[in-house]
Formats: sequence, C-alpha cells, structure tokens
Amino acid sequence: MNSRDQHLGMYQRLLEHMSTAVLLLNDQLQLQWMNPAAEALLALSLARVRAQALLELIHVDETIGERLSQSLRERHPFTQREARLTLATGDTLTVDYTASPISEHELLLEVEPRDRLLRISREEALQARQETIKILTRGLAHEVKNPLGGIRGAAQLLERDLQDPAQAEFTHIIIEEVDRLRDLVDSMLGPNHVVRHSALNIHRVLEHVAVLLTAEYPCINIIRDYDPSLPALHGDESQLIQAILNIMRNAAQAMIEGTTEQPELVLRTRARRQFTLGAKRHRLVCKVAIIDNGPGISDGFGETLFYPMVSGRAEGSGLGLSIAQSILHQHHGLIEYESRPGHTEFRLLIPLETPHD
Ligand SMILES: Nc1ncnc2c1ncn2[C@@H]1O[C@H](COP(=O)(O)OP(=O)(O)OP(=O)(O)O)[C@@H](O)[C@H]1O
Ligand SMILES: [Mg+2]
Repeated sequence: MNSRDQHLGMYQRLLEHMSTAVLLLNDQLQLQWMNPAAEALLALSLARVRAQALLELIHVDETIGERLSQSLRERHPFTQREARLTLATGDTLTVDYTASPISEHELLLEVEPRDRLLRISREEALQARQETIKILTRGLAHEVKNPLGGIRGAAQLLERDLQDPAQAEFTHIIIEEVDRLRDLVDSMLGPNHVVRHSALNIHRVLEHVAVLLTAEYPCINIIRDYDPSLPALHGDESQLIQAILNIMRNAAQAMIEGTTEQPELVLRTRARRQFTLGAKRHRLVCKVAIIDNGPGISDGFGETLFYPMVSGRAEGSGLGLSIAQSILHQHHGLIEYESRPGHTEFRLLIPLETPHD
C-alpha cells in the first residue's frame, strides 16, 4: 500500500469514528456517502439509500433544496441553526447543520443534533434554580419555626393562669394555629429523616401507591403498563412512595374536580439506556410515567409548577410537587411533565446504577 492509500484509509477511519454526522451530496442533492454517525442520527442505512435524493428521505422545510443548490452553484458555505427535521420514522429532530461545497458537484453536510444539548442545558439551569429556591425556603421556614416553640409555651402558661375557663378557647386557638404552622413549615423543610437507600422494586412502590389511591378514589381506573425486566433500583422506598403519591393524588384531584367522565390513570415503566440527566450520562435510567386523562395543567405554570407554594387549587398548599422533585433530586433523578387537555404526563427519571458504579 502506498502512502496515499494509507492516508485515505486513515481519513476513512476518522470519518467513521466521528460523532458528528457527515454526509456527501452530489449536485442533484442525491446522497453519495454518509458516516455511521449520520446513519444513526437520520435512521437511514447508506447501503439502502445511496443515490437517492436526500430531501425525499428526510423532510426539512421547503426552501432548503434551493439553499443547498445555491450554495453549491455559488461555492458558498452556510450554517443553519436549529432546523427541524422530520425523519422517515416520523421522529422529529432539531439540528444545526453546515453545508460546504467542496467541488462543483459535491456538497458536504455536517449535522449536529441540538435536542440533547438544549435539554441538558435546560435541566442544568432548572436544577440550579431549584437549589436556590430550596435554600431560600429552608432559610425562611427555619426563621418562622424558631419563635413558634416560644409562642406555644407562652400560650400554655397563660392557659394555666386563666381565671375564666371560657377564655381557654382563645389559648387553644393559639396552640392549634401554632401547630398547624409548624406542620406547614416542617413540610416546607422537606423530608428530614436520613435517607435510607436499599435495593427496591419500583413496581412494588407503584402498587403500594395504587392501593392507597384506590382506597381514596375508587372510581379511578388504574392501567398498568410495566416493563418486568427493569432491574432493582437503589433508593429510599418510603420517600419514593411519598413522591409518587403526591403526583398520583394531584392527577386524581384534577380528574375528579375536572369531572372527567371516565377517569383513567396509566402507570408505565420503561428502561432507558445511555441517558443523560443534568450533565451526567447514565448507563441505565428507570422511567416511570404517570398519565391521567384529566383537564390538564394551564400553560402559564411551566417549570414554576415545581416551586413551593405554587398551586392551582383553592385548598392546595402547593408543596406536593416541590417535595416530590426534591426527593427525586436526592435520588440523582428528576421529574418533568407535559400536559394538554385529556393527557397530563409526569415522568420520573431515576438512574439505576448502584452507588458503587
Ligand atoms: N395531573 C394534574 N392535572 C392537572 N393539574 C395538576 C396536575 N398535577 C398538578 N397539577 C397542578 O399543579 C399544582 C401544584 O401541585 P402540588 O402538588 O405542588 O400542589 P397542590 O396539589 O396544589 O397542593 P398540595 O399537594 O401541597 O396539597 C396543583 O395545584 C394543580 O393545579
Ligand atoms: Mg398536590
């Protein structure tokens, strides 16, 4: 093999191992070549689609064909950010791509998926914000809690010295209200017992909560769609029960108050491989989806839904989801949601590797 061939072999290997998707088109915008990263990203096989027009295989927008041809004609490279692609599989992707004409008849395309990146930075920002809010509420809760013991003790002393027993009603009110405030503040401070992690079966947790919910709301039809091959999870069982109960109870309340005709709750579990949560990539992540067919969550909430004291219900304290989210953070996971009328889905994502990994 001469040195030119050796170089060609090396370039080929480089291209094949790159994580950037690279495609080569001719002047008819037909696919001449693509690397494995492009095959994976676009869900195409080079052997099957070689020489086919790229824009018949994936849908971008109407103007793209003309832009690519013009770039080739004028030998002028261009970059497009956040373009939406629709693949033959029906999946959609957001990508950045650069088109570089390398001769009169050859156009090189480099395609970089954005969805993952956008999602990762969004999750990181979200986690940082929630951390700040947690520190703020904890500080505030702590300050509120401090004088409560004193007020309660003083009311008790006062009660002992009262001449008119009818006035005891007032000291009772003070004591009861102080207790109510203390309970509220305690739940704002979040779960305070030491986290006890052990191997647990997520389906047992879900079944436990399903039994509790059925006792409270017998009219809700619970549909299970479990992945029985999910391995054991490392976590604190009673806390995960709490988190899932908070979410399921919200769904039940929304369906009952929204007078949904046939209230239905789907519990779905799945394993996701090589999944990035926050900035960390995990080998295996457990996904639990809790889906209801209630009226949905109004658009205005966005991620503030997870903030403490944010509630859409007159009698709600707005702590359920903020507690659930902080429990998931303790498990290095997170909760996300999407909602439209008739379909509200809360997804819990929990890494499955043991702490030793
Ligand atoms: N599945 C759902 N469908 C419709 N709205 C929901 C759903 N889940 C949550 N919500 C909305 O999100 C709000 C916040 O929920 P969160 O559990 O944090 O507080 P809460 O239910 O109002 O009070 P708490 O749980 O502390 O009693 C709810 O008040 C409700 O408006
Ligand atoms: Mg709630």
